[in-house]
Amino acid sequence: MNARFEPAERLRGEIVPPADKSISHRAALLGAMSAEPVRIRNYLDAADTNSMLAAIRALGAVVETRPDELVIRGAGLREARETDGPIDVGNAGTVMRLVSGWLAMQEGRQWTIDGDSSIRRRPVDRIAVPLREMGAEVEATDGRYPPFTVRGAHLHSISYDLPVASAQVKSCIMLAALAADGATTINEPSPSRDHTERMLVRSGVTVHRSGRYVTVGNCDELALEEVDVPGDLSSAAFAIAAGVLVRDSKLIVRNVNVNWTRTGFARIVQRMGGIVVGDFEDDPGDAISGEEPVSDLDVVSCPLAGTVVEADEVPLCIDELPLVALLGCFAEGETIVRGAQELRVKESDRIATVVDGLTALGGRIEATDDGFVVTGTGGLAGGTIESRGDHRLAMLGAVAGLASRGGVEVVGMDAAAVSYPGFADDIAGLL
Ligand code: S3P
Repeated sequence: MNARFEPAERLRGEIVPPADKSISHRAALLGAMSAEPVRIRNYLDAADTNSMLAAIRALGAVVETRPDELVIRGAGLREARETDGPIDVGNAGTVMRLVSGWLAMQEGRQWTIDGDSSIRRRPVDRIAVPLREMGAEVEATDGRYPPFTVRGAHLHSISYDLPVASAQVKSCIMLAALAADGATTINEPSPSRDHTERMLVRSGVTVHRSGRYVTVGNCDELALEEVDVPGDLSSAAFAIAAGVLVRDSKLIVRNVNVNWTRTGFARIVQRMGGIVVGDFEDDPGDAISGEEPVSDLDVVSCPLAGTVVEADEVPLCIDELPLVALLGCFAEGETIVRGAQELRVKESDRIATVVDGLTALGGRIEATDDGFVVTGTGGLAGGTIESRGDHRLAMLGAVAGLASRGGVEVVGMDAAAVSYPGFADDIAGLL
């Protein structure tokens, strides 16, 4: 499906972004791993999180859909059911990597995991290596890609240095660690989103942080009970970018998660001179709370200046880096992103697709091995951008259209349904 986004005169009003994708995934999976029912309010209704529900149903959980909540009646920690065929994760890397952590602890049972053409180019050796070290058997296509099989085993605790800052890999290991024969410690190169840590704390698991190290104890059962999923800052980021870029705009974004491991983009916008005001959480140091902080945000349009994003900041804004490139096209001077080679293994190779996409709209942007360099030219002419099946690229094209001089045609706008099915309607409401 194609969609056209014309230059907007101004954006005004309020937006309630969809529920957080990462927190929804974790709530459903921990629900499936629990023996007692877990109630989830505001679970994200999108393609990725529906893939998670399909996966946990196949594995033996019962998902009851009520008007205002989901109730998950789990299979229990060590009771995942064998499936007839492969588990289909669709487009969802988070489902693929987190579910594997649960399967690894199912002694003597085996599953195959597969997904769409994008999933088949996303690496799983990064979870295979630590899961094997814990005792599970993992066989991947060409040693690296889906489809892959996981054979569960009695697991040993490990101490593991993550080669990349990845919340998906960290979470996979933390979930497997719940059934290990001692406490497991993970060392991250730099902090990534900590929703799994918080939800495990809520579930009664012992989780400690000490600088870049996180230690997870084992447990017999999870006691999560209920989760209220806040709005997704990564989805809200599209409205934030549009509000900052489209002249004379003033928006309120309601009920977003402002966990400090997710607010990198908002801080970058502020550094570029953009007005985005909210009650952002401060880095709490080693303390891990079971809560997820929430705030409304005020966004006002204003001129921007270029900035530099370095490796340490990347995990805190990994999904929003395409929008940083877009802002860079409108900013004064250069915007440089470094240390973001992880973008190459997202739903698309986001260094290549962002550079190609923004170049096609008249931007001056060059790819580097680990990021991009954007030279601001005061705006974008407009044109046509292809989503290449990547939800965040489709929505980037839409925002570019609103802020452009000539409008943008997005080819493959339907990709937005992976994380934000109501995106086009929400944007229309601001016009
Ligand atoms: C996610 C973590 C990030 C992010 C993805 C969701 C998660 O991936 O890009 O959209 O829910 O843990 P990595 O942690 O692998 O970089």
